[in-house]
Amino acid sequence: MVSDYLIRAEGINKVFPGVKALSDVYFTLKKGEIHSLMGENGAGKSTLIKVLTGVHKMDNGSLFFKEEKININSPQDAQNKGISAVYQEVNLCENLSVAENIFIGREPMRNGKINWKQMNVSAEQLLFTRLNIDIDVTKVLSAYSTAIQQMVAIARAVDMSSGVLILDEPTSSLDKNEVNQLFKVMRVLKEEGMGIIFVSHFLEQVYEISDRITVLRNGHYIGEYQTKELPRKDLVSKMIGREWEESSNQKHKSEKQTSAEVLLSGKNLARKGSILPLDIELRKGEVLGLAGLLGSGRTELAKLIFGIDKPDQGVLYLNNEKIRSLNPKSAIERGFSFCPEDRKVEGIINDLTIRENIILGLQTKKGLLKYIPMKEQEKIANKYIELLRIKTPSMEQRIDNLSGGNQQKVILARWLATNPTLLILDEPTRGIDVGSKQEIRQLIFDLAKEGITILFISAELEETVACCDRVIILRDRNKVGELQGEIMTESNIMDMIAKGDEIDEAIPS
Ligand SMILES: Nc1ncnc2c1ncn2[C@@H]1O[C@H](COP(=O)(O)OP(=O)(O)OP(=O)(O)O)[C@@H](O)[C@H]1O
Ligand SMILES: [Mg+2]
Repeated sequence: MVSDYLIRAEGINKVFPGVKALSDVYFTLKKGEIHSLMGENGAGKSTLIKVLTGVHKMDNGSLFFKEEKININSPQDAQNKGISAVYQEVNLCENLSVAENIFIGREPMRNGKINWKQMNVSAEQLLFTRLNIDIDVTKVLSAYSTAIQQMVAIARAVDMSSGVLILDEPTSSLDKNEVNQLFKVMRVLKEEGMGIIFVSHFLEQVYEISDRITVLRNGHYIGEYQTKELPRKDLVSKMIGREWEESSNQKHKSEKQTSAEVLLSGKNLARKGSILPLDIELRKGEVLGLAGLLGSGRTELAKLIFGIDKPDQGVLYLNNEKIRSLNPKSAIERGFSFCPEDRKVEGIINDLTIRENIILGLQTKKGLLKYIPMKEQEKIANKYIELLRIKTPSMEQRIDNLSGGNQQKVILARWLATNPTLLILDEPTRGIDVGSKQEIRQLIFDLAKEGITILFISAELEETVACCDRVIILRDRNKVGELQGEIMTESNIMDMIAKGDEIDEAIPS
């Protein structure tokens, strides 16, 4: 009988200094299936993928490709077999064109020279016909949004793979439409007989797209399941290793009394090309959400408040006093903290340790000359490693050795450690597993209870509704509404994002 298996991996082991990332892991991928690899942050998903693509060499174990025993010694080796991957961290060259990024290392040649014309035409066709994306492929990649950049990385992998396509958290920066677009492409490839490995912390997506699921926990193989036969609750229980109940966040809200005292207010705040004039008020101990589509102005508004961008008009008041100098340094001194959306660009410093990365915000707040004693640094780092369950053998580990979700937790820790009065969280749970997501939500509630004001941005409406006391809806860089209380529901927010009118009627008097 001809086997359906494209990949069979048995007894895979991989040790990093101080960490057993994979212990006797078993994994199979069939032809024409989409297989989700699930597990908590640091469970070993990316490591397994990197073993399959020759980025990491396994310590021992057996790999079979179409039932033939193989060794994969390098990414090139994997590619030659038709195994391609899009990694969690997009590895593209921002200063090259879109077409160059797609064909880098395999440029079409003519008479010993790169055939630019053909390269551009092929890139255009690939993006347009397979992924339905119509962009100028001669422009540099940096001219495009993260979402488009992600699609370019996917296009490159799709074009190169001839059997196995691996997508490690490809959807974390995509919006709903883009995810649908990607899923359409994945379904077509599946029909063509390709095997696809999919990693995502969005359970709905996993259930929508995958045929089978393999669960890893702490580097161990837990099991392989038909998606249809594995209820959500059981999946999460297997991931975290104990019974899991989806907690009800509503309870918290009804208990809570938001103080009416205003901490920060902005009047007529605007910046050309970024935000149209709007008013905003943040009360003490309140979690205020900003909702809207990608590009609606959520992050831009947060950047104005933190002083990363300067408003061209309008005034900000802190405790009723006009703020005069507005820049990130004075914002930090004032007690503001901003946990940014893109941890690669604005967040982690690769060659520093976890401790150093955590301490950075507080050090900036105190002034760079007021050195924080080592004992104190260790105490703070330890506290947050425990609080956020950052998975690492030591706080002296370089941050780039952590798994993606654990890096995100370090950045969150950096800003929590500054003991802010205003905490701006831009997509704080991106790439974070379901269990930790719930814990971070709880943490946000606790901080708000202590009187900290939180400005919360998330593309996930479900999360926005669960976390926030009030939400401002943005559309095309315009504030179009505000909701709170009973009527702050996902569907009402969606309506306002779509229609963008009837602002005042929505606010209960
Ligand atoms: N280059 C490395 N050096 C040292 N340790 C590493 C390295 N890469 C990964 N690890 C460790 O191996 C373990 C598994 O990490 P991995 O990146 O595979 O997790 P993951 O399941 O992909 O998690 P996430 O959901 O956060 O992306 C983690 O404890 C991580 O810290
Ligand atoms: Mg990972």
